[in-house]
Amino acid sequence: MELTGRISLRDNRSLSKDEFARASEICSAIRKLVDSRADFIAGKGLDPAIALPGNNWDPEADQPFLNRYRHIVAAKYEVINRLRLYAQFSSFDLVTQSMVTGGREVPEIPEDFDERFEKQFPKPDHWIDRYRMITRFVPADIRARFPRVLGEIGWEIDGHPVNHDVYAYQERINLMFESGLIDELRRRVRTNGSVRILEIGGGYGGLAHALTGLLHGAVKYTICDLPESLLSSAIYLGVTHPRLGHRIYDGADPANLSVPDEWLGFRYVPNYLFDDFCGLGEPVDLAINTLSFPEMTEAQVRYYGQRLKGLIGGGGVLFEQNEDGRWMGLLDCKTILAESLACRHPILPKTIPVISKGRADLWSMEPFEMIVSPERRPFGGAGLRIRLRVWRAFCLVRAPGLGLVRLRQALQARLSPAVFRGLKKIWNLFGGRMKA
Ligand SMILES: C[S@@+](CC[C@H](N)C(=O)[O-])C[C@H]1O[C@@H](n2cnc3c(N)ncnc32)[C@H](O)[C@@H]1O
Repeated sequence: MELTGRISLRDNRSLSKDEFARASEICSAIRKLVDSRADFIAGKGLDPAIALPGNNWDPEADQPFLNRYRHIVAAKYEVINRLRLYAQFSSFDLVTQSMVTGGREVPEIPEDFDERFEKQFPKPDHWIDRYRMITRFVPADIRARFPRVLGEIGWEIDGHPVNHDVYAYQERINLMFESGLIDELRRRVRTNGSVRILEIGGGYGGLAHALTGLLHGAVKYTICDLPESLLSSAIYLGVTHPRLGHRIYDGADPANLSVPDEWLGFRYVPNYLFDDFCGLGEPVDLAINTLSFPEMTEAQVRYYGQRLKGLIGGGGVLFEQNEDGRWMGLLDCKTILAESLACRHPILPKTIPVISKGRADLWSMEPFEMIVSPERRPFGGAGLRIRLRVWRAFCLVRAPGLGLVRLRQALQARLSPAVFRGLKKIWNLFGGRMKA
């Protein structure tokens, strides 16, 4: 896994005229959805507590998302062409290379951005090290590749950019691989021609891109999200997967949501129209929620839990990676999901020394062992498991920063949210920088 240099804006290809025209159409479609949302919800008698953005997305909250949405939807070429610098969903800001959880600023990208950036960040950060660690034990066809387009900046490994977000999505892919899910999805593709994936809260579409790549495009991938975020995923995936179908659902006619068996591609469903998707009665092979449920209100998570129960039914699975957000005034979504979903199967990482955020679980309506038998999972041999355990311990010694993250996670899991919040305050008082 050779690091061969850096990837700057100048190394990104620019969007073509046609690509920009398509992105502009997406901006108009999404703007219409957002502008008519309140009337639509009232007209249909939908529950505003479920349908309107809540919690972290409340327009009154201290949150960086809304202004970024407004910046992107204005459809200027120089903004769309560098979408990844504005569409920030992982808390990690590519421009400042730091965690941003509040504030209203939208980054300014000067003409000499590359020169300034390279001076300010001359060396690869620890996410690059961590990426190399977690890809060490997974086969090459389990590595997600992100293209040099739309402002993807980072360090070049095996010819592709790597940065915090690439790390984060690779981590999720590793967890799915370790649990045997990727193998099971590939088996279903061979049998049925494609798999149905539903992602609730898909951000800019990074994980959707990664999974679609690993499954060679054989997906019917539905993203249910706030329209403000569908803007970024529809543009990103439209550019990175031009040969697949792309449909933005506007609620005019539920028939527009149904697709023929041979259809492959992405459907973008605004959160307040999710019941129309559920009404199709399509079973879902894999549902996904990562770092999103805690952002929502309790009522919203309960709503999704109840619907996921029917969607994943017998053979489907929900992959969920979230943290207990109570210490920062958000939710512990796992207790709410347990009200609706019968079986919980924690994934204890083998190829990841320290998981970046939260804990990963597979939820299903029948024991996960009946969906993917333990013998079909990788890393089954005792010798290899011991080797991986020793390797993970060694990584913590080699990178003491990781050891601290591990300690923080252990405390977070064991202490009450109030005590953990107090501890965080004291830590930061003495110069620590624990944000989220
Ligand atoms: C922190 S981002 C995480 C994005 C991505 N899953 C990831 O892991 O990088 C949270 C996502 O949840 C979405 N979200 C917030 N409220 C939602 C709701 N009520 N229904 C669906 N998605 C929602 C946001 O729009 C955003 O895409």
